[in-house]
Amino acid sequence: MADTPTDAPNTTGTSAGTRAGKAPRPTTRIRVLPHPRLCPEGIEFESPQGRVLIDELLRHGIAVEHACEKVCACSTCHVHLREGGELVTPPDEEEEDRIDEAWSPDAQSRLACCVRIKGPLLLLELPRYSKNHAREE
Ligand code: FES
Repeated sequence: MADTPTDAPNTTGTSAGTRAGKAPRPTTRIRVLPHPRLCPEGIEFESPQGRVLIDELLRHGIAVEHACEKVCACSTCHVHLREGGELVTPPDEEEEDRIDEAWSPDAQSRLACCVRIKGPLLLLELPRYSKNHAREE
């Protein structure tokens, strides 16, 4: 009987794809409530934890304003974290000052450029207006 190749490379994929045993990065379910202009049907998606919230919103087609290019200087990226906000890092003084300048802030207000995604779920409500739109209308 012919020899069977016992030292052939494993092509079954059983251990490939895990990249040297690295655990996959945990993800957070992002649920955005419907908004008439930015997201009429609402949307849900998964994002890797640790990413900045505004980047993930933009990546999924939600055109949240970001007039200062995401450096916590304009408050146009204001969102309300209706669920899950207690699990992300709380706002620092600079963010709190900017939130005070946003359109219709409340206790669940955050700036999407300052929030690092964390926890099992973030439920977002986008304000009806940004500071810029409120001025225009
Ligand atoms: S993009 Fe300006 S404060 Fe977030």
